[in-house]
Amino acid sequence: MTAPLRHPEPTVVRVALAERSYDIAIGRGSLARLGSRIAALRPGAAAAIVTDETVARHHLAATEAALAAAGVRAMRVVVPAGESTKSWPMLERVCDALLAQRMERRDLVVALGGGVVGDLAGLAAAITRRGLDVVQVPTTLLAQVDSSVGGKTGINAVHGKNLIGAFHQPVLVIADTALLDTLAPREFRAGYAEVAKYGLINDARFFDWLEASWRDVFAGGPAREQAIATSCRAKAAIVARDERETGERALLNLGHTFGHAFEAAAGFSDRLLHGEAVALGMTLAFAFSARLGLVPPDEADRVAAHLAAVGLPTGVADLHGGAPSLDQLIDLMAQDKKVRGGRLTFILARGIGKSFIAPDVAASEVRAFLAEKLA
Ligand SMILES: NC(=O)c1ccc[n+]([C@@H]2O[C@H](COP(=O)([O-])OP(=O)(O)OC[C@H]3O[C@@H](n4cnc5c(N)ncnc54)[C@H](O)[C@@H]3O)[C@@H](O)[C@H]2O)c1
Ligand SMILES: [Zn+2]
Repeated sequence: MTAPLRHPEPTVVRVALAERSYDIAIGRGSLARLGSRIAALRPGAAAAIVTDETVARHHLAATEAALAAAGVRAMRVVVPAGESTKSWPMLERVCDALLAQRMERRDLVVALGGGVVGDLAGLAAAITRRGLDVVQVPTTLLAQVDSSVGGKTGINAVHGKNLIGAFHQPVLVIADTALLDTLAPREFRAGYAEVAKYGLINDARFFDWLEASWRDVFAGGPAREQAIATSCRAKAAIVARDERETGERALLNLGHTFGHAFEAAAGFSDRLLHGEAVALGMTLAFAFSARLGLVPPDEADRVAAHLAAVGLPTGVADLHGGAPSLDQLIDLMAQDKKVRGGRLTFILARGIGKSFIAPDVAASEVRAFLAEKLA
């Protein structure tokens, strides 16, 4: 006879937002407790699991079993996988499915998937019946350390990414690190860029630890859990101080101004995943900071070396399908909402773990820097 599978207690990170506070439960096997946590949070409530076809294949059965074990009545809405699912038609489909299943105000939406499902299901929950509560069950590394925490939800518009959305904090996040075992290695690596980001923003010791321990993070086990918990703590602290991004939360955009331009130039396609663009963008943000005399060049080199060691792109030579033109990049950055009167807001650094918001960077400086990098 085999003993029943026992899971160690998850690491719990609290997001402190007064009456909207919630827990992030991080650990191998934490999905098994989804039903009992929901039953405790909202006795008698039903749950609607929103997921994509790929995640459904791997993890829907276990999720439904976890709910059934606690007597939580559940229905499912399965959408296609991929960024194009963050659209008006899919939002309509999810909202209609929630209504067709008679989800009431006290019931819960369970977003089971990566950032695409989390953003779509989060927005559907925010607007259906003027607001249903959502439980995020992130299944990618990016979603476990970033998109499932902090309450940003949204879909894409023809005018750009994430332009339709709402702030809607989850009531609970369950980050089961074992779910990442089925994730494509390239997706895991892309998510790792956002993990490294937290070290670069304000935690030099975490970056030191990642340089020494990244192989263990990739391998799974306690180091993975530790990296995810440290990342969630970092994001939770920033969100608690600046929920609506009127200030400090902008630090989370480190690497994203450069990154978004490359991502847009690649058409938000598989040619360049979001996290890959962020790795390139963070490398450029540190190199640019070095060029402005803010960061010692060897610190900028250390950032590039670590991201490259992990297998992330750090130079335009690493881009599949070639680099975009200088004019195209500048155009894309100018379309970014962070540009005013030839000045750009950038996240720059004075060192690893010493990032800051620079609201007044001359577009001409950026152009000269990128011209060098593209040469
Ligand atoms: N709301 C926020 O604060 C926030 C922050 C960062 C990013 N985002 C958004 O997140 C999205 C990107 O998220 P993502 O990188 O998780 O992409 P994703 O949700 O598209 O997932 C990537 C791929 O992996 C598959 N997948 C997911 N989990 C899996 C698993 N456990 N096993 C096997 N396959 C799995 C998915 O089906 C998909 O094909 C973007 O739309 C971005 O705008 C939002
Ligand atoms: Zn990002």
